[in-house]
Amino acid sequence: MAAMAAMSMLLKPFISPPHYQTVRNPNKNPKSKPSSILLQSQSPFSSPLSSRLFSTSPISASASATDCLRLVEAFDPRIPLEEAQTPPSSWYTDPSFLDLEFDRVFFRGWQAVGFVEQVKEPREFFTGRLGSVQFVICRDANGNLHAFHNVCRHHASLLASGYGKKSCFVCPYHGWTYGLDGALLKATRIGGIQNFDVNEFGLIPLNVATWGPFVLIKLGKDVPPRGKLDGKIVEFEWLGSSWEILSTGGIDSSLRHVCRREYTIECNWKVFCDNYLDGGYHVPYAHGGLASGLNLESYSTDIFEKVSIQSCEGTSVESRENFDRLGSKALYAFIYPNFMINRYGPWMDTNLVLPLGSRKCQVIFDYFLDASLKDDKSFIERSLKESERVQMEDIVLCEGVQNGLESPAYCSGRYAPAVEAAMHHFHCLLHQNLMDQ
Ligand code: FES
Ligand SMILES: [Fe+2]
Repeated sequence: MAAMAAMSMLLKPFISPPHYQTVRNPNKNPKSKPSSILLQSQSPFSSPLSSRLFSTSPISASASATDCLRLVEAFDPRIPLEEAQTPPSSWYTDPSFLDLEFDRVFFRGWQAVGFVEQVKEPREFFTGRLGSVQFVICRDANGNLHAFHNVCRHHASLLASGYGKKSCFVCPYHGWTYGLDGALLKATRIGGIQNFDVNEFGLIPLNVATWGPFVLIKLGKDVPPRGKLDGKIVEFEWLGSSWEILSTGGIDSSLRHVCRREYTIECNWKVFCDNYLDGGYHVPYAHGGLASGLNLESYSTDIFEKVSIQSCEGTSVESRENFDRLGSKALYAFIYPNFMINRYGPWMDTNLVLPLGSRKCQVIFDYFLDASLKDDKSFIERSLKESERVQMEDIVLCEGVQNGLESPAYCSGRYAPAVEAAMHHFHCLLHQNLMDQ
């Protein structure tokens, strides 16, 4: 009951702005969720900046840069959904294609990397990895948020690990010490060194911002001075015109983080995203339990610049358990390229999809709950168990698709126009980024 009450407060009706596309779907269902983080990127596609900041290594043997660009062109975003073919299977299997994706998709634009609660207090930090980029996010003693490459300027040791609270970062290798603002505070045993300016050996900063409960970083050389990053610009760059729907749709900072689950899946990262973006197509076939809690007839998809939002109403009463967990309306937002926000009942979970290889990814689930329910251990346990079951079902699907993509029998497929518009949109955005020098 409490869950239903909280739900009705948190999930406000969506307002449809005039400038996005809506696909109403007569026989739909929602999304899914499977598995877990990262991989080495070494690419022949790097821009001079990427080459400098992101150490690169020799070109993969499987395909040259030219071959990869030919693969990108094999998908034509100008062909309407009804006639379009899906991207060729090599997008999902070729290691060099992943190099290109790191360089042109993941190393550009804002990326969600964590949530604000992880660095709520001064001196808290967490680390992460995006391809070859190792990063650390921290809040200094004055409460300012920072992001840095998590690499010591002496001999490149990783500096911080995991998460926690520190007053400074001491390199585990030779003890060079950095402040939480990135400044090099102590370079041990460097007596006799010449032409060395301590001020030039601070940690290399990254752009960092927050939106609602999330922490974002952007890779690139232009890091504006503190306080100069315009939150509205970040919001629009990350969410486009969907920001209003998301901020009024119950995605806010009042929800409390409950737990994190990580899954490693033997599939290309896009297989997981595609599965999420099929408009609930697979739900009645693969998630019998979930389907009983959703009114699949009500499924709809709204497409924005770099975001698609699928939404679905819950069923009324037959499944009390499902209704408490799923509420009267569920929202599934996909934020290109790899972040999903699922808002249902008193719950919100996020899925961050991190490539670990051309056929492996990590999916990090973070679960957030209405604060009024954070002590209801029984409800939390039951909800997580149900969610876990859905993840396991999706993992089986995704790994099956990866095996099929690697079969010589398959090259590309087709879209079901009534349900798979968001998936097509995802592929068009990828094509656009990958073609962008
Ligand atoms: S690598 Fe960090 S102090 Fe030597
Ligand atoms: Fe699913």
